[in-house]
Amino acid sequence: MKKVAVLTSGGDAPGMNAAIRSSIRCGIAKGWEMYGVRNGYAGLISGNIIPMGTRDVGGIIQKGGTILGSARCLEFKTEGGRLKGVRCLRQEGIDALIVIGGNGSQTGSYYLHKLGYPVVGIASTIDNDLYGSEIAIGVDTALNIALEALDRLKVTASSHQRAFLLEVMGRNCGYLALMAGIAGGAEAILVPEVESDPEEIAETLREAYEHGKAHAIIVVAEGAKYNASKLTTFFEKHEERLGFKVRSTILGHVQRGGVPSAFDRILASRFGSGAIIALERGEFGVLVGLSENQVKTTPLEEVVSNKKQLNMDMFKLARILD
Ligand code: F6P
Repeated sequence: MKKVAVLTSGGDAPGMNAAIRSSIRCGIAKGWEMYGVRNGYAGLISGNIIPMGTRDVGGIIQKGGTILGSARCLEFKTEGGRLKGVRCLRQEGIDALIVIGGNGSQTGSYYLHKLGYPVVGIASTIDNDLYGSEIAIGVDTALNIALEALDRLKVTASSHQRAFLLEVMGRNCGYLALMAGIAGGAEAILVPEVESDPEEIAETLREAYEHGKAHAIIVVAEGAKYNASKLTTFFEKHEERLGFKVRSTILGHVQRGGVPSAFDRILASRFGSGAIIALERGEFGVLVGLSENQVKTTPLEEVVSNKKQLNMDMFKLARILD
């Protein structure tokens, strides 16, 4: 291994910069030449590859986002796009690629691997929906942002005896909603993995008020069948019958823009080092993730062909605790 490039792809996640920094510095420590690919797979296809030294990654560990830039690249979903990417890497004499990203990005890495190009993935997505890592870079920061919003909503909800809906990110996965709901003591949690009935949610809220609660918070994952907008419509339509008013907050990309927590910076630093170790061992076509607090690798083939499951014990616990 002589020349290695690092790329960030898909939705940015707080801690990506710490992973770039760690990969670059651990690679340089092995005596390798390190490179960065600008703007994800879109930059790869157009050959936007720059050399990176130790100082180029100085002062970034505390920054959210990604200094390399990211993109969602439709062209890379085609065989032609991926072949272009491999051509660009070979033209630059790059021997291997590290891809920092979530599900879509690691599907891209898997295809590069199938084309025979040496690649290692690093688990990074605020959704925590990536098989092969118990927790991904960015999850902890995003969760704490959602939790802070929930705590703030509780204050105003209590003052007005209102119900509040808080929609958090998670297209296909309710991890953020579930964990924010448990940590913030939400009265109800709606996730894509579990069917829910708005009448039942309304009943839960009515009971909460009857038991003397001054507030009721429902955390909703954006991918739940009844997201914040559908639930608001339902509650407003039945406001008189239900006996409470509802307000809705959609947190959106605020969750992605945070200053990375200590946990995310350390996790990302470990993953960056793990990726370099995997490359040094010639262990290609794998994802670097966390299992039982150990950095481990999982074949990308296994990663892309499995869906990470929501922890149903935690879901049941949330129902008991609300
Ligand atoms: O995958 C991370 C994520 O933040 C999802 O939670 C969300 O659905 C999606 O990205 C939003 O994507 P974009 O930033 O492209 O709108």
